[in-house]
Amino acid sequence: MRQAGRYMPEYRALREKYSLIEICKTPELALEVTLQPLKFGFDAAILFADILLLLEPMGAPFDFVKGQGPVVHEPIRTRAQIEKLRVCDPEEGLAYVLEAVRLIRSELDGKTPLIGFSGAPFTIASYLIEGGKSANYRLTKQMMWSEPEAWQMLMRKVSEVVRRYLRAQVEAGAQAVQLFDSWIGSLSPADYEAHVQPFVREILQDVMTLGVPVLHFGTITSTLLEAQRDAGGTVIGVDWRIPLDQAWNRIGHDYAIQGNMDPLLLCAPPEVAVARAREVMRLAAGRPGHIFNLGHGIIPQTPPDTVKAVIEAVHAYTHEG
Ligand code: CP3
Repeated sequence: MRQAGRYMPEYRALREKYSLIEICKTPELALEVTLQPLKFGFDAAILFADILLLLEPMGAPFDFVKGQGPVVHEPIRTRAQIEKLRVCDPEEGLAYVLEAVRLIRSELDGKTPLIGFSGAPFTIASYLIEGGKSANYRLTKQMMWSEPEAWQMLMRKVSEVVRRYLRAQVEAGAQAVQLFDSWIGSLSPADYEAHVQPFVREILQDVMTLGVPVLHFGTITSTLLEAQRDAGGTVIGVDWRIPLDQAWNRIGHDYAIQGNMDPLLLCAPPEVAVARAREVMRLAAGRPGHIFNLGHGIIPQTPPDTVKAVIEAVHAYTHEG
């Protein structure tokens, strides 16, 4: 999940001077921001980057617009545009991310593991087609249903970039990688299985041969958990809408699970947040393979002290056995 960001005064101070994209493109700044949240005591560091960075080298530049979120300058709506998208080599178009991975790894010096990540093809395709965030994914679903060949060409191109990008991050030193399919919860199981799962499977089956843990995350996945697991990943990430024990029973205890506290609980009184974090731990029942995490990204209004209190509570619970 997002771990650094606007809830931290140190991050906001840096953002006064640099844009989000400038931070991502400058390995020394990406390093600084990656390290910022570690003072709270996290067990792993997450690379500071964004799932949309690969849009630019693919030939679909975008910006983050204040108050609006990501905006793709020329959304991809036609077959001719899809044909022009580049299946780029991450060592060229995303070299700055790989440089940041190397720099962060050398700075962490084996003390804290580094998690790399990428967006998954459906979630990336939704930004390419809609041009930004979307309430109902109308244009994305329209292409999926009415132009299956164009959809497949788009998904194949994005998938190949994602596969290469995750591989390159592991080769640069990432000790685990996470695939964010944040918006798959908008699909029915049948549509997920027909139009998305084969592409995700191809990526994950390949990346899983690298021998590092592969986290496969989605939200609103209560009806998709089995299909998501079958697409691949050694760890399945779940949001808070399903109790952790129910999700784990469905996924199977031979898989690891990541989750799943509601990130808004960090805006509740600290004692409430801590009690609810302990409840997630209780549902995990001390089994090996539970990674405590939020069920989705941290929001900017989060009080940093509550983040610290929850991390301490999770560590204390683990030591209580
Ligand atoms: O340390 C970390 O938190 C890792 C960095 C990280 C970012 N984005 C940086 C970022 C990670 C893991 C992401 C993933 C990401 N980006 C996802 C998948 C996870 C999820 O939340 O579902 C998605 C969908 C995106 C796309 C994206 N990037 C959106 C929708 C936004 C919000 C735009 C807005 O104006 O609120 C972003 C911006 C973004 N990426 C921020 C951060 C810290 C916001 C802070 C800023 O503007 O400086």
